Amino acid sequence: MDLKISGKKALVLGASRGLGAAIAHALAAEGVLVYAAARTIDAMAAVPNLRPVQVDLADEQSVSDLIAKLQQEGGVDILINNTGGPKAGPAMGQTRDAWQSAFQMMATSIFAITDALLPMMIEKRWGRILTIGSSGVVQPIANLALSNGVRAAIAGWSKTLASEVARHGVTVNMILPGRIDTDRVRELDTIKADKTGSSVDAVQAASRNEIPIGRYGRPEEFAAVAAFLVSEPASYINGSSIRVDGGMIRGL
Ligand SMILES: NC(=O)c1ccc[n+]([C@@H]2O[C@H](COP(=O)([O-])OP(=O)(O)OC[C@H]3O[C@@H](n4cnc5c(N)ncnc54)[C@H](OP(=O)(O)O)[C@@H]3O)[C@@H](O)[C@H]2O)c1
Repeated sequence: MDLKISGKKALVLGASRGLGAAIAHALAAEGVLVYAAARTIDAMAAVPNLRPVQVDLADEQSVSDLIAKLQQEGGVDILINNTGGPKAGPAMGQTRDAWQSAFQMMATSIFAITDALLPMMIEKRWGRILTIGSSGVVQPIANLALSNGVRAAIAGWSKTLASEVARHGVTVNMILPGRIDTDRVRELDTIKADKTGSSVDAVQAASRNEIPIGRYGRPEEFAAVAAFLVSEPASYINGSSIRVDGGMIRGL
């Protein structure tokens, strides 16, 4: 299927590894000029169509600098809102600082970037905003209270925005990973193994057992869905949260 996005421009946040990197590569392969943003950009693969840009989403000034740079370059057609995940931990006993810094890095940063880049999409009457959430938006995950809490706020924001801009040709959606094999998931499995006194292998086997497909997803499988959601043929998908979880979420 021709995704009809060749020649468009995209900003992919959190693009140095994991889900963001896979999406950046998938879009670049479709002929999209991709600004690939992260804190560490030196080791990014030299892929045609990929332009590394440095940003620290936890730093307000750095976010403002990124916005200014992209505005100068005429904005983007596609925005992939992806950030690092917050620290693991329970809901009880989280400090005000922990909540504020998780919110700043994961939510306020992407709200500001989206808001700044939207007017140019509206002007062109074409745009795609896709935000990476988590299965925890639907089924909160134990010991990931900061993630569950902040992502629920992001889901509310995304759904509200979807009803504001769709008439201007801009769709706004979320994509919810279950367990896709990345550094982040390996780190969380290691934390769980340390906490429960079992091996990482045992934690991963138990985790695979909870996924109807029986394995973790591959970043390319996730990125293929993301690339479709920001494509021209996906023009009637708006305000949705698409699960890419091998059937892991049990609710309807
Ligand atoms: N993988 C999954 O199955 C899964 C499941 C549920 C939710 N998620 C969520 O989806 C998101 C991406 O997941 P992932 O597995 O790809 O995570 P990951 O492997 O940890 O990658 C995170 C990306 O975000 C960037 N990043 C982190 N902090 C940043 C900051 N302050 N400023 C700018 N960039 C920053 C990292 O690059 P630098 O370190 O170079 O900045 C990296 O490129 C995370 O929020 C994660 O919690 C993932």
